[in-house]
Amino acid sequence: MAIQDTIKELLDKRVQAKLGGGQKRIDSQHKKGKLTARERIELLLDEKSFEEFDMFVTHRCTDFELDKQKYYSDGVVTGYGTIDGRLVYVFSQDFTVFGGSLSLAYAEKICKVMDKAMKTGAPVIGINDSGGARIQEGVSSLAGYAEIFQRNIMASGVIPQISAIFGPCAGGAVYSPALTDFTLMTKDNSYMFVTGPKVVKTVTGEIVTTEELGGADVHGAKSGVNHFIAENEEEGMLLIRKLLSYLPQNNLEDPQSIQCDDPIDRLEDALNEIIPDNPNKPYDVKDVIWSIVDNNEFLEVQKTYAPNIVVGFARFNGKSVGIVANQPKHLAGVLDINASRKAARFVRFCDAFNIPLVTLVDVPGFLPGTAQEYGGIIIHGAKLLYAYGEATVPKITVVLRKAYGGAYCVMSSKHLRGDFNYAWPMAEIAVMGPKGAIEVLYQKELAEFTDDKEREKFIIEREKEYKDKFATPYNAAQYGYIDEVIEPRNTRFRIIRALQSLSTKKDLNPPKKHDNLPL
Ligand code: HXC
Repeated sequence: MAIQDTIKELLDKRVQAKLGGGQKRIDSQHKKGKLTARERIELLLDEKSFEEFDMFVTHRCTDFELDKQKYYSDGVVTGYGTIDGRLVYVFSQDFTVFGGSLSLAYAEKICKVMDKAMKTGAPVIGINDSGGARIQEGVSSLAGYAEIFQRNIMASGVIPQISAIFGPCAGGAVYSPALTDFTLMTKDNSYMFVTGPKVVKTVTGEIVTTEELGGADVHGAKSGVNHFIAENEEEGMLLIRKLLSYLPQNNLEDPQSIQCDDPIDRLEDALNEIIPDNPNKPYDVKDVIWSIVDNNEFLEVQKTYAPNIVVGFARFNGKSVGIVANQPKHLAGVLDINASRKAARFVRFCDAFNIPLVTLVDVPGFLPGTAQEYGGIIIHGAKLLYAYGEATVPKITVVLRKAYGGAYCVMSSKHLRGDFNYAWPMAEIAVMGPKGAIEVLYQKELAEFTDDKEREKFIIEREKEYKDKFATPYNAAQYGYIDEVIEPRNTRFRIIRALQSLSTKKDLNPPKKHDNLPL
């Protein structure tokens, strides 16, 4: 074959590969409001940065006459490129080829990019849009999934792994996204479940739609499986790019630092007034977060799940931090099972990737009740305790208002190796709130009162005594458990100074095979 002909052959093959399962199926994908696998990659990466691998891979199955149906790339597009100039590896499932279902050859392609990402220390982004295991391949397909899971596990805590769900993700296929660090779903076109509505109806008799069973809202608010919801694929890709900007390439690097034009000593007078006079009145802790971070920018993670705790990424003086904050606006900021799990996973992610933690505390305690106890609040609450206690990144804590009971200990206290523990002057740090304390301490005296007014007067006096002694930050400050009581409007500056002083912090946990986190 003449050289020109060989080149033409290559170019023709490329054209054919780029058609995936054919124009008809591409049109059908577009009709559903979905992009193709390659269009998605183009949207995600820096312009013209994508380099594809394994374009000419095909499956090797001969059963069910599959040898007569072969498509280049075999249902998944893989390779590398850049996001804001930084290397990332990607795979993008192609629904136009056998419904994006996974064959062994397809799995090998994904494993290849994951292995390369591990060798080069770069994040992996997987775009999911697939009917699951390729039925015709049987156990080979299941083996392919398991090979991917094993790599997800090995990569966990080494390189950031992000999963976008832009279509179906069902059966055991859901476990690869679940093993990654962050999952993003589009509002109307994506769903995740272990078994679909038909199986649910057969086994349990329950009638449920796809959306109700595993749509983005359900996994955002109810299960907590999903971390980000995007209106559409374009918004989803922008979110992924933004998320990556806060993260390092791998666990041996620090997150990139960017130029900060927001004055580091900016005073926020409104913070001196933000805590209501009545300690039982709520306020929005996000107003505190927005006003102290660079340029009021905060990327919230799991916005709709357990809103009684807020977690997400921001920057102080151009450097990434993870923020964890109790939210008095929801359930008074109490710690419950979901809030504990949500925050624990976030704290562990930040610690794994060298992202300092800033914790804003306003917590009345753990949520009481049988639902919580039967659900295992003891073990789930312990997760957050464990996560903070094992974390060795810089840890800065500001007690804004309440820090009561076990929740005081859990929320990045001095005793869990908190590096800088600040409190606002209105902070209340004690074993419990005044009302509960008086009932326990003076139960005998209270029982002896015959006159209700006298009883009330006694309670008010004792509460005042208690508040003067314990419902202040100074009792904790006298033991050095609070390093400094700070003026609220100066919080940004104090945090930035603390972070600067901790930039060379080194702390180690004892060597072990691995920990035994309360799961
Ligand atoms: C082979 C498949 C396939 C599969 C879809 N296709 N799923 N081929 N294996 N798993 C093919 C269809 O035959 C069709 O081929 C094309 O993909 C598009 O599928 P449609 O059904 O026409 O599309 P749509 O109506 O949009 O429905 C999408 C779907 C549905 C909801 C995903 O296809 C579906 O229910 N598929 C089966 C899902 C499933 O049960 N998978 C196994 C899960 S268990 P043509 O030629 O017509 O274009 C699993 C175990 C993993 O994954 C375990 C890991 C540990």
